[in-house]
Amino acid sequence: MAAERRINEGRTRTRENFFGRSRGKTLRPLQADLLAERMPTLGLDLATPAPADLASLFAVPVDAVRLEIGFGGGEHLHLESGRHPATGFIGVEPFRNSMAKMLVALEEDARPNLRLFGDDATLLLDWLPDRSLDGIDLFYPDPWPKRKHWKRRFVNRRTLARFARVLKPGAAFRFASDIETYVDWTLQHLRDHPEFEWLARSPADWHTPYEGWPGTRYEAKAHREGRVGAYLRFRRI
Ligand SMILES: C[S@@+](CC[C@H](N)C(=O)[O-])C[C@H]1O[C@@H](n2cnc3c(N)ncnc32)[C@H](O)[C@@H]1O
Repeated sequence: MAAERRINEGRTRTRENFFGRSRGKTLRPLQADLLAERMPTLGLDLATPAPADLASLFAVPVDAVRLEIGFGGGEHLHLESGRHPATGFIGVEPFRNSMAKMLVALEEDARPNLRLFGDDATLLLDWLPDRSLDGIDLFYPDPWPKRKHWKRRFVNRRTLARFARVLKPGAAFRFASDIETYVDWTLQHLRDHPEFEWLARSPADWHTPYEGWPGTRYEAKAHREGRVGAYLRFRRI
């Protein structure tokens, strides 16, 4: 299908870190049309080399660039890109129904400081220049709670090496999850990584949502089921 081809245009290798569904319910005609019409301009084409200065990717001048991986319903990305109009945002989401939802939101309230990518975020990370990002957000990644599936988790040594390469010194990596074993797993991986430091000074730090945090659909479901999120903040040294 044309929209499917376009959303994945420019994939440069096979996926390494996407184990979920990329397709769900049949799209409404408006959503399918938006995917076909908007992704060629809003979507990043990895077949073209990344510009040395990522600011040139955006339709408005920006003085910083941040990445959100797996934005899902887009609640945070849409709000945050509106709160920071002088920052460029790249949003990654391989599930095309979620991407379509974001495109509908953008029709109603456009964001000239936002670009999108509809596939595995590791492909995008490998495309980005060294030290090009001012922040990476990974909120409620797929939890893979069973031990035998932990190797599928987005956080692993390979991904962290990618984060360390593309983040500028001093830039932030933020990670939220409601799954205790994933929070521990992430803390352990980051502690073992010499290029990151955890910024928490007291438990209040990881119990307190990020500034301006709107909540997400996934988080609301976790709360309904009695799980609370941990909001971790790390710094690229
Ligand atoms: C549990 S959902 C959370 C969505 C959203 N962040 C929220 O809090 O509601 C995890 C999301 O990560 C996306 N995802 C999974 N693997 C990914 C990958 N390799 N690259 C980018 N996104 C990915 C999924 O499609 C899904 O939308």
